Amino acid sequence: MKTVLPVFFVCGLLSITAAQKFEGLAPTPPMGWNTWNTFAGNISESLIKETAQAMIDSGMQKAGYIYIIIDDCWSAKERDANGNLIADPAKFPSGMKALGDWLHEKGFKFGIYGCAGRKTCGGYPGGRGHEFQDARTYASWGVDYLKYDWCETGTADARETYKIMRDALYAAGRPIVFSMCEWGQNKPWEWAQEVAHLWRTTGDIGPCWDCKPKKEWENSIKSILDRQVGLEKYAGPDHWNDPDMLQVGCEGLSLEESRSHFTLWCILAAPLIAGNDVRNMNPEIRDILTCREAIAVNQDPLGKQGFRVFCAPEKEIWAKELSNGDWAVCLLNPAIQPAEMTLPWKDLTFLKGTFRVRNIWSKKDLGTTEETFRGKIAPHGVAFFRLSPITP
Ligand code: GLA
Repeated sequence: MKTVLPVFFVCGLLSITAAQKFEGLAPTPPMGWNTWNTFAGNISESLIKETAQAMIDSGMQKAGYIYIIIDDCWSAKERDANGNLIADPAKFPSGMKALGDWLHEKGFKFGIYGCAGRKTCGGYPGGRGHEFQDARTYASWGVDYLKYDWCETGTADARETYKIMRDALYAAGRPIVFSMCEWGQNKPWEWAQEVAHLWRTTGDIGPCWDCKPKKEWENSIKSILDRQVGLEKYAGPDHWNDPDMLQVGCEGLSLEESRSHFTLWCILAAPLIAGNDVRNMNPEIRDILTCREAIAVNQDPLGKQGFRVFCAPEKEIWAKELSNGDWAVCLLNPAIQPAEMTLPWKDLTFLKGTFRVRNIWSKKDLGTTEETFRGKIAPHGVAFFRLSPITP
């Protein structure tokens, strides 16, 4: 007994130290750009470099978008003779290590995609059974962020499967943000805090506000938004709900819808992963994506996800608690007609005392919460406010 106990003790300690995610990598929701929403499998080294340059030139990098994430379809169709993942030499002729170095030199962090199943959703080699080998490969390429998908996983248990990759990343020794993508099927918000830094809460987002998207597996922005209600208590620094990447500036959304989508993703403390063609972005979309005051709501250090305060077919109110007693509030017109809308601040019972009111999109100070907000709001449009307490 005397000799057995210490062995158990040592094993226990080892497993405790090995079984963990890297802490502190995502104190606020990650921000970046991902290839999938616009380019799907049509990706290349030159696309990544042109996009990175456009992100620098447009002010996106400065605004905080630092992860450049290569989604599915980057790898060769087969692993090499030693079972290692290799980049498709036609799409990425310099290889992933060189591309990662290039991104780091430009001040970005390097994100890549893998899949927990036998194949990725696009039919490329999956990570199943190769987790520790792949984690070492990613680390050797200088990867900083791994999105890990859920296709071809059969009857695998999500929690156990994602833990394997978490442990593999930790064992490889390079701090890598771990982004789980099992589409919310196994309620990851209830268990993934110890596994990943963020987890998808739904299926894929489509480029439309509330229509039925063309691709049958995609979901409208509004339907995804509705499914975030109640999840707010599960999010916080280093463990974020991910309602999927931004469709801001993608074909299928009006300018107002792009602005509303962005506003609500800020309120939700969602990862802000742009998915538009940044090289051909118009100034209005650039202004949305780089709006300093909106991003400050998303990146607020308190790290609280916002919640829906009120919901009716003609009006929704969302709010997010911020640091220093501030609040962000979003008034949404869900209807297809423009509407004269009012917001009597006294209805928001969580507001204790009087606040100064700032309109984030019009960049105007509007007075105080003693008054009532009145304004015309476009179809599917929003008004977005920051409230700051007036100290008596
Ligand atoms: C799944 C994911 C998407 C994207 C594709 C790539 O559908 O949810 O975000 O990564 O796979 O094939």
